[in-house]
Amino acid sequence: MKLDEFLRLNAPDDLAALTSAIAAASLGVWESVPFKSGLLSETNPSGETQKAIDVFSNDLFVDALTSTGLVAEVASEEMEEPVVSKGSVSVAMDPLDGSSNVETNNPLGSIFGFYTRKLPASGRALAGALYVTYGTMVTLTFSFGKGVHRFVAVRDGSAMSFQLLGVNLKIPEKPEVYGFGGARADWIPPVSAFWHSLEPRGLRNRYCGTFVGDYNQVLARGGIFSYPALTKKPRGKLRVLYECAPMAYINEQAGGYASDGSGNILDIEPAGLAETAPLYIGSAGLVRELEGSISSKQRAP
Ligand code: F6P
Ligand code: MN
Repeated sequence: MKLDEFLRLNAPDDLAALTSAIAAASLGVWESVPFKSGLLSETNPSGETQKAIDVFSNDLFVDALTSTGLVAEVASEEMEEPVVSKGSVSVAMDPLDGSSNVETNNPLGSIFGFYTRKLPASGRALAGALYVTYGTMVTLTFSFGKGVHRFVAVRDGSAMSFQLLGVNLKIPEKPEVYGFGGARADWIPPVSAFWHSLEPRGLRNRYCGTFVGDYNQVLARGGIFSYPALTKKPRGKLRVLYECAPMAYINEQAGGYASDGSGNILDIEPAGLAETAPLYIGSAGLVRELEGSISSKQRAP
């Protein structure tokens, strides 16, 4: 089944239109990476100024989203202030997650949260979320509150289209893989202790350095991804609005759980657009175990 048909049957009209716009723009990002990142020289007949790939992706998605007429605002990791428009959906996005991995050809990603409130808002105001992987395949993984579904980009005659790859994806409860960001020496002690317990339980360390890519394999195999609290940076690195909450929403729809070490990521009310949180996300049992151990240490005198 093709994307537009699936969306017509399974998504609210506004989120269907926004998802279609993101799908088309994501192919534009993907084909531009070798040029905009300077790996190939760009031949640009109009002589436009070169933009870095993350700024290029940001602008492409902002245009695609605002041209639907459906967004109230688009907030992005790449912009200080949201772009305001006339519709009703607030979109928060990380237009190119892992952009420092371009030269090594590790997977990249894009993350989108569709919020029903003015931003900043908590994950409880999400009506849907979506992430794109630019890896071995370009995929769209999304949820509008009724399960997690996935499409893959394929050649369709002279153009590309998105075909259904999976419906109602569920994260395995039996964990297989883990990936933790940041330097080990900086992790808070309960995170280090938990990390040391994973290999003896048969889990394998898999880390590519792009949140979307690292989370995507956790969703497929079961396990945990974390960018944890650091001793000198207790609120971690990843942004609540653009990264943590949209992925936590999808993860919860897949049967998993995401925590900041003291509670559900979706309950955080960020005070600012760029607020960060420690993130522990994946199979519910494993994440709850780590959350329990971090919370009990925080309560200790
Ligand atoms: O968006 C930030 C990011 O690039 C994530 O994609 C990734 O998980 C993290 O940073 C990696 O950070 P570090 O290099 O510190 O492990
Ligand atoms: Mn990112």
